[in-house]
Amino acid sequence: MATKVLMVCLGNICRSPLAEGILQSKVDSDAVIVDSAGTAGYHIGSKPDSRSIAVGLKYNIDISQQCCRKFSVQDFKEFDFIYVMDYSNYDNVIALAQNDKEKAKVKLILDEVDSGLNEVPDPYYDDDGFENVFHLIDVACNSIADKLNAN
Ligand code: 4NP
Repeated sequence: MATKVLMVCLGNICRSPLAEGILQSKVDSDAVIVDSAGTAGYHIGSKPDSRSIAVGLKYNIDISQQCCRKFSVQDFKEFDFIYVMDYSNYDNVIALAQNDKEKAKVKLILDEVDSGLNEVPDPYYDDDGFENVFHLIDVACNSIADKLNAN
């Protein structure tokens, strides 16, 4: 059975769509299914932010067909690993978990690497932040993909 990984941020239009696209590009799509969601519902049904689409395309990652959705409690059952971008996302997701098994699925994505940072900064109000966000997520996804591809 495929391993299922969910990437989570606040809006599901900037960071987690990039994380979905980047990780999916590094794994065998028969073995690993990647999705993303937001803890807030502001942008449900929207495409990713144009600045995320642009930085993705710069590195040959096409996220333009993704569609924003909100995180749901059912995601704890569906997914094996849930990676969040920052502490606020972490608190929001953990607050919805019903037991320790569900809580144990949730991790900060930058905990997968020794980057010296714990959070992927929210780039929504920072046009220049998208390049940095791409690289932080890319390095973390190298580490996640290495583990998944070793299975
Ligand atoms: P994201 O960024 O959580 O990386 O998708 C944001 C997107 C939208 C908003 C905030 C953050 N917003 O307030 O609409």
